[in-house]
Amino acid sequence: MNFRHGHNCTDGPLVCVIAGDDAAPEVVYPTVELLHELVPGIRFHEALSGKAAEEQYGDPFPKETRQAISAADCTFFGASGGPSRPVLWHLRWGMQTAVNVRPIRWRQGYRSPLGHPERIDYVIVRDNLEGLYPPREGDLSELAALPSSKSWYLPPRPGEQGAYAVRVCTDEQIRRVAQTAIHVAYERQSIGYPGCITLGAKYSIQPRTDGRFRQIVREMVEARAGLTYQEFLIDDLARRMVAEPETLDVVVLNNEHGDILADMAAGCIGGLGLAPSVCYGEDYAYFEPVHGSAPDLAGKNVINPTAMLLTGALLLDYLSYMPEKQRLEDAIARVYRQGKVLTADQGGTASTSEFIEAVRKELF
Ligand code: NAD
Ligand code: IPM
Ligand code: MN
Repeated sequence: MNFRHGHNCTDGPLVCVIAGDDAAPEVVYPTVELLHELVPGIRFHEALSGKAAEEQYGDPFPKETRQAISAADCTFFGASGGPSRPVLWHLRWGMQTAVNVRPIRWRQGYRSPLGHPERIDYVIVRDNLEGLYPPREGDLSELAALPSSKSWYLPPRPGEQGAYAVRVCTDEQIRRVAQTAIHVAYERQSIGYPGCITLGAKYSIQPRTDGRFRQIVREMVEARAGLTYQEFLIDDLARRMVAEPETLDVVVLNNEHGDILADMAAGCIGGLGLAPSVCYGEDYAYFEPVHGSAPDLAGKNVINPTAMLLTGALLLDYLSYMPEKQRLEDAIARVYRQGKVLTADQGGTASTSEFIEAVRKELF
């Protein structure tokens, strides 16, 4: 996995920007503007998707966008609310961005529903390719051909209507997820975190898939010096994320569990407006917030841009602009500490633009 991309080339790194659907462009464009002011050397190249691409090229995912993604060092993506879904699929499976990293950290001023949110500071490492994704589904009648002797399998009764989904779990992909978790744990350990990897899965009920996931992750972590390992059934882990978040450092999850619990974790720190994310592949990465396209907020200039800005900080980290990344995170943290310019989801009255301006004032 390539976790960092150098920027020694004379031209500066090239980032493909895809704004996405609904309210996503309202956080993508101002974030890119701010990143450009902070690091003028980064070249941003916008490519269209969804409705805008349909209007210009007659295709929601035209070849121009596919080419722009490949030509860039990485992609900065808003979110898909439907029309941009083929682009999202391509960014994940086409570009093989195998592992999704979602840092969950409460900062002073975030409007958490919990009593002691200062205990929340961990990173979710999620399988980004397998599990129940991409959908492999079919008609229940097709299952009748499977041997019914397996004790776990209840064959459909004759004539019963319904559908099924298939979950695939390969050793190679589990190793990528484990390797990423180990990398994140060591990086965090170097700045004072405990180096503890927690696996959550349903290995009791799905011993072949989640059981395999558990076994491979456990063996790989236990083979590495200086790290500790713990594992919990996924339902119990969900409780721990709310009740004892201070016991978590790096949390490894399969695709569907990671999807659901990342939103829950974001809810614990104060909402989806606050949670950034990055998807790493062997030689590509793409950046998007945990949240979706927030269609209910579209066109109102009220969506919280913090998740997108923090995703921008992850981009700066990937491109090895460490001081600038720190400056951006510190500026955002100061705006929250002051608590004067906050968006509606954080109990304030500021618009998206006003929040961005407050961060800009802290930066420059
Ligand atoms: P959502 O994350 O878009 O919104 C859920 C709730 O959180 C809404 O009330 C929304 O207003 C709020 N919210 C989200 N981001 C916010 C922000 N930055 N500031 C303030 N409030 C925010 O999820 P949804 O409504 O379930 O899904 C909407 C669409 O987004 C769906 O089409 C879904 O598939 C898609 N989606 C895409 C991605 C992605 O492209 N990576 C991720 C998640 C959901
Ligand atoms: C996410 C989203 C996606 C997912 C959807 C849009 C396919 O919810 O990135 O969290 O389920 O992975
Ligand atoms: Mn999700």
